[in-house]
Amino acid sequence: MTSAPPMEDLQPATAEALFAERVRALVADRCGYAPRPASMAPLAAALVRRRRGRSHEDYWDALQGAAPGGGELQLLVEDVLNHDTVCGRIPPHFETLGRHVLPALARLGRPLRLASLGCSTGEEVYTMAITAAEIFGLNGSPAVEIVGLDLSARVLEVARAGIYQSSSLRELSPAQRQCGFIRQADGFHVRPEIAQRVRFLQHNIMQPLPLVGLDAVFCRNVLIYFNPDSAQQVLGHIRAALAPGGWLFLGPSESALHLREWFEPAAFAETMLYRRRQL
Ligand SMILES: C[S@@+](CC[C@H](N)C(=O)[O-])C[C@H]1O[C@@H](n2cnc3c(N)ncnc32)[C@H](O)[C@@H]1O
Repeated sequence: MTSAPPMEDLQPATAEALFAERVRALVADRCGYAPRPASMAPLAAALVRRRRGRSHEDYWDALQGAAPGGGELQLLVEDVLNHDTVCGRIPPHFETLGRHVLPALARLGRPLRLASLGCSTGEEVYTMAITAAEIFGLNGSPAVEIVGLDLSARVLEVARAGIYQSSSLRELSPAQRQCGFIRQADGFHVRPEIAQRVRFLQHNIMQPLPLVGLDAVFCRNVLIYFNPDSAQQVLGHIRAALAPGGWLFLGPSESALHLREWFEPAAFAETMLYRRRQL
């Protein structure tokens, strides 16, 4: 059997492509994100940008150096992940949350806890809080806490600031905007009554979630970038964090995942959700 030639003997383009493939495998293993060969350009470009003249081996050591999800690996991944989001994305989910899920959960007669995995800059979390405020009132009962988790420290800073431009609010009705935001010179500020229901945590969802007894989890437009094994691992973490009967909202392209053993489909006129089985 012939062994692989040392990196320095390869043509530069080949060495770069092999190195990018090695990093792709590391990123997929630690963070879930696994671009297909045809979609490698952003990762390859970020590698060149961040390596800044360091040799492949030195940069590999830097990637390995920190704890999973921390240090250079964290910065590289932040650069390539898709963080696109807007308030009210996939309106049928929020209609179903408001019309069916929150009223059913309110009958439990206790405070409610919801989470958004891969919450990006926070718009999804604030829309969940606005939906709860529309049903229960801005200071009403039951108390609702919503936790947003994301790997990226950078997007969480924006989420915590809670100031958005009108383009981020374009999917909201005038009533939802009014309920959630106060217009100021520099943008739309999240109302304090909405902000107090919300908190944000930096967390890599490839690791068990730091939350238990959740009543509903949104995990939308995140697992589409993961390979099936990593997506299944995340589903296991969601299952462990959800209360029995807890609700799961997945993005439309994520609903094809192998889910049915742990989650029961629940069809509504507006959309399809999943509920954690009792097992
Ligand atoms: C396209 S955004 C989706 C935002 C929102 N959920 C939505 O549907 O509008 C995907 C987010 O998932 C986050 N993400 C990707 N992999 C992650 C991981 N392993 N742990 C935590 N967050 C992750 C990214 O940082 C990004 O902000």
